[in-house]
Amino acid sequence: MADKTYLDNQTWHYFWHPVCTVAELEASDTGRGCLLRAQLLGTELVIARLESGVVAMNNRCPHRSAKLHLGWNRGDRVQCAYHGWCYDAQGTCVEIPAAPGGPIPKRARATCYDCEVRYGLVWVRLDGAADTQIPDHLVFDDPQFKCVLGPSYDWKTHSARRLENFTDLAHFPFVHPETLGKAGHVTYLIPDMRFEAEGKLRYHYAPPKGARNAMDSTGNLSPLASTDYTIQLPFGVTLDITLENGTRSVIWMWATPLDDVNCRSFWFACRNTDHEGPDQPHIDLQMQILEEDIDVVESQDPEQIPHPMEEIAVGPDKVSLAYRKCLYEMCHAKAEGADSLNAYLNRNEDNI
Ligand code: FES
Ligand SMILES: [Fe+2]
Repeated sequence: MADKTYLDNQTWHYFWHPVCTVAELEASDTGRGCLLRAQLLGTELVIARLESGVVAMNNRCPHRSAKLHLGWNRGDRVQCAYHGWCYDAQGTCVEIPAAPGGPIPKRARATCYDCEVRYGLVWVRLDGAADTQIPDHLVFDDPQFKCVLGPSYDWKTHSARRLENFTDLAHFPFVHPETLGKAGHVTYLIPDMRFEAEGKLRYHYAPPKGARNAMDSTGNLSPLASTDYTIQLPFGVTLDITLENGTRSVIWMWATPLDDVNCRSFWFACRNTDHEGPDQPHIDLQMQILEEDIDVVESQDPEQIPHPMEEIAVGPDKVSLAYRKCLYEMCHAKAEGADSLNAYLNRNEDNI
């Protein structure tokens, strides 16, 4: 039997995850102000743009448990749709319309979570006990690059399975034989890997000439020279791609765990040439590649990464093995406390 407790999903509560785009939040205003329903690690959230900034609250009114996203954004407070109780940016109930003079119960608090806006995304951390950071974005502020935020997409799989797929080197000729890979060009590269501080796993991939393609500056496929992969634990990855023609493109992705078996991927396609050209081909090609991946990844059973004895690994699975080992060690560190998790993420840099 697969051991579904091999990875402790409570561990991911200590990390920042994007839950929506700023554009989605702004589009949520249908006359009641910006209030967007979101989900993270099985917790339902309401995201609100209040006068003091964007906040993330548990999407449950403590009065009689109605969902807060059905209510109103009143500028500096969220008002519940059912009996009109109002909550400030800290989640404290500050008004009960039916009892204007009476005391407000101390327990009348909506749970609030750490919330920040970065890269046009709204980031939430359910538990702030560990000193984790919002992941870097290698080129977001680099004027040489134009970054386009792609449409986020949901897959029925755990975030770790999705991340593994994004970083897998052996599936190109089978899943992407006419796009990223080439049928018959099976390669057995086993990259050198390095663990770096703040929870990064890095490796360089240089396939044989002609074996791989990647998206070029116009959104078409061109021969790939090499890719620098940076996995940001637990669920982020950056691909810094150099084409044979010398141009670079950077794909940034984070797979947010909606719950234990569903994830939502947020991603950017960035390029250092042809800023004036159309963005849509870059989005379209990436979406085509994702369509090629989705069926095999969603077919993986169980959705969560199981105990090592439940699957088989060979040498070229090195990236997957190293990634799983890190996830497992993070869960182990978390069991000892938030400080241990911090120490693990910032341990000495090391070759793998
Ligand atoms: S359930 Fe929200 S005010 Fe009553
Ligand atoms: Fe793929």
